Parts: sequence; structure tokens; C-alpha cells
Amino acid sequence: MKKLVISSGAGISAESGVSTFRDAGGLWENYPVMKVASADGFRENPELVHEFYNKRREQLLTVQPNNAHLILKDLEKDFDVQIITQNVDNLHERAGSSKVLHLHGELMKIRSMKHPERIYELKETNLHTSIDTRDEYGDPVRPHIVFFQEDVPNFQPAVEMVQEADIFVVIGTSLVVYPAASLLYYVRKGTPIYYIDPNPAQVPSDRNITVIPKKATEGVTELAKILRNSL
Ligand code: APR
Repeated sequence: MKKLVISSGAGISAESGVSTFRDAGGLWENYPVMKVASADGFRENPELVHEFYNKRREQLLTVQPNNAHLILKDLEKDFDVQIITQNVDNLHERAGSSKVLHLHGELMKIRSMKHPERIYELKETNLHTSIDTRDEYGDPVRPHIVFFQEDVPNFQPAVEMVQEADIFVVIGTSLVVYPAASLLYYVRKGTPIYYIDPNPAQVPSDRNITVIPKKATEGVTELAKILRNSL
């Protein structure tokens, strides 16, 4: 089966009701990003950061995967679909996608601050964490999120996936945050690239990129037809 590698951003979850970051009314318009999503911010005021992610987890419980997530799952019938996402929501997993790699962490997970390899999945009945939360060993915990100013440990595995792609699709990202935005430069020459976004960012003209300037649900529907016709 051909390797269909997807790179998704906040835009794919927009139609589920999850706000993006940089659109009008986006998250960073309402919260100072460096205070709630950076390593400095967490050092300065960990309680504020815990609260910020508690609120985002609560919101996550009220939303569902949309048709774009579901079509990507359905494409697994005809392709080896591998999803690389900048999103920390679990909508790809809840849609049933079997291969999802998170570059920026996962909202429903926390980890020990003393032993970062100890990662815990939060239950829906116990979503909140604070500076007083302790893991089973009595150690303080933090959101399992890649803050700004921190490395992206999954970037190398993501590059390897992109380098093996037969088709590469970028969905719903403003392509302003690195290293995630650089993934499209690792696509083998000649590999078809599609970019689905109603307000697409500038893309390099020396790449074989087809821009589908539509919302994710419409664009992914159109893409699925294109890909299946090419089988
Ligand atoms: N369908 C598809 N794309 C959409 C839709 C939609 N319905 N609505 C908005 N978009 C697009 C916007 O046009 C924009 O290009 O989604 C993109 C959202 O861009 P950002 O808000 O910058 O989100 P993203 O690119 O995922 O941000 C990257 O920045 O703050 C960090 O860690 C955070 O992972 C995030 C990273």
C-alpha cells in the first residue's frame, strides 16, 4: 500500500469546535502564549499553566472528531495512512486513525517532572492537575505538552516518515511554527504534496504542491476522491 503521510494542524479540528491559535478569535488572542505555553511561563507560574490545560481538557470532552478526521481513518482501507499532528487533541485517535504521532504533546496526558519517561493518561473523570498533583511515586507532574522553548522529541521520527511518503498532505496549519513547518522540505523530490487550508500560507514554488483552498471537511473529501481515482 502507498504511504499516505498527513501533517495536520489546528485547522483540522476547527470544524469540531476546537479553536485554532492564530485565526481571528484564536487561542493566542485570548491567552498570552508565552505565559501559558512556554517553558519560562511554566517556571514562572505553573498554576496558571495547569489551569490553562485543565480548561482545554474540559473543552476537549465537549467536541467530536469531524468528517475530515473520519475520512482520514477511512483512507486506511486503501493507503498506509500515517498522521503527524501538531495538535494536542485526541480527535484523530477518537476518529479511529491507527498511526498518530504527536509533535507537540498530548492534552490528555501528564508526566512526572522527576522521571519524564513516566507518562500517565488522564481519565475523563479526573482531568484537572495542579502544582499539588503527585504521581504514584509522589513526584510532581506537568502537562505532557511540548512548550515553546522546548525540544520536539518526535521530530526526527516524523522526518523519517515524511522521507518515506508516497503522498504528503498538509491540512490546516499556518506553517509558522518550526520545526513542524519544515516537514514539507523533507519530502522526496517528485512526491505529490497537497495543502488543504481555506487561507493557505505561502508555499515554496519549487515543490510539486497542489493547494486545495478549502476547509478541512470539504478539502479532505475532495482529496480522497483524487487519491482513489489515482489508485
Ligand atoms: N479547515 C482547515 N483549515 C482551517 C480551518 C478549517 N475549517 N479553519 C482555519 N484553518 C487554518 C487556518 O487558515 C490556519 O492556516 O488552520 C490554520 C491554523 O493555524 P494556527 O492557528 O497557526 O495553528 P497551527 O498551524 O496548528 O499552529 C501550530 O503553534 O501555538 C502552536 O503548538 C501550537 O501546534 C500549534 C502550533
